[in-house]
Amino acid sequence: MPINRRDCDAQDRDDPLAFARDRFSLPEGVIYLDGNSLGALPRGVAARVAETVEREWGRDLIASWNTADWYGAPGRVGAKLARLLGARPSEVTITDSISVNLFKLLVAACRMRPGRTEILAEAGNFPSDNHIVDSVARLLGLTARYVPASEIAGAVGPQTAVATLSHVNYRSALMQDMGAVTAAIHAAGALAVWDLAHSSGAVLLDLDRSGSDFAVGCGYKYLNGGPGAPSHIFVAERHLAHFDQPLTGWFGHADPFRFEPDFAKAPGIRAALCSTPPIVSLVAFEAALDAFDDVEMAELAAKGRALCDLFIALADERLARFGVALATPRDGSVRGNHVSLRHPNGYGVVRALIGRGVIGDFRAPDAMRFGVAPLYIRFTDVFDAVAAMEDVLARETWRDLAPTEAGAVT
Ligand SMILES: Cc1ncc(COP(=O)(O)O)c(C=O)c1O
Repeated sequence: MPINRRDCDAQDRDDPLAFARDRFSLPEGVIYLDGNSLGALPRGVAARVAETVEREWGRDLIASWNTADWYGAPGRVGAKLARLLGARPSEVTITDSISVNLFKLLVAACRMRPGRTEILAEAGNFPSDNHIVDSVARLLGLTARYVPASEIAGAVGPQTAVATLSHVNYRSALMQDMGAVTAAIHAAGALAVWDLAHSSGAVLLDLDRSGSDFAVGCGYKYLNGGPGAPSHIFVAERHLAHFDQPLTGWFGHADPFRFEPDFAKAPGIRAALCSTPPIVSLVAFEAALDAFDDVEMAELAAKGRALCDLFIALADERLARFGVALATPRDGSVRGNHVSLRHPNGYGVVRALIGRGVIGDFRAPDAMRFGVAPLYIRFTDVFDAVAAMEDVLARETWRDLAPTEAGAVT
């Protein structure tokens, strides 16, 4: 029996997370399947940002560093985020970007394993991560060795100082078993640095129970913190005392306002900071996290998995005959929260869909990527999106939109 829209409608009516969609301001007539690139706008953000700009900055001026606790914002927002990561509030802070935080963590981890000669990293990880790996290896005189994510556990050895990989791959959505891979890395005496860009706010995470050492994650994807929202950084409590990151700016100093000439590391996770935090972005992110209030992450992950299962079943049923191939695991237990489909004319198909209000993205050479953020995507949205794609493929409307130059649609 083909899947029909009424079944999807029934799933929406039974959805225990349906309340969360009202927390977002979504444009009429748009099916937004790109929350894995830039999350949608949560309703409370604009008012909170306006308050920060108009009252805290405009009226209270510099006093707001204390009166509005701007100074404490990175740690305060990190503590609020910690529940979604399965971490302690004292282990998370909000600062800088993923790439910058990865640099800090890799150097800090290598410093904790002196004498070891290599960084083991995921081949096919997001390019920025591996550009940073190469640079850190050059800086510290180490070797960077790359293997596919599924081979990291077997490849780690006595020479490995640190192994780094994405929990969910940005292209395929393949998800690693964080506990098992971390245990294998530890068995070789190395440390693990995880990239959670496609995990935080999207899948069930338990950083503490999985024994993780260090992690970085993204504020502007599934956490809906806004364009360029600062990243988050996790350092396991047992490592905080020895955590020696290389960007020793004054915000990571134990007492920045004494302006001492010598660096003295701040206690706890504040040592992960470098510079003056971007307050407007931080308060936007803080307000955005309210969208997760009363949301059980296990329930969110289950809905994400069901949405992707539906997407894949519909793609099999309605798109495969046009040469669309699945590039994402079928097994939901090893899959993150997006579905990647390959088609030789993927660029044009994604452009044609965007023209019809179905927003996904494209990753060269041929991957169409559709993120199904469980807080605001409905089962009927998935049905309608696949129906639109079937129509685009059947009528070949992508022909007018084939690429004239290489590039991604984002
Ligand atoms: C998996 C992954 N890692 C790293 C990055 C880079 O993030 P940033 O621009 O914050 O350095 C991205 C960006 O999309 C990503 O998807």
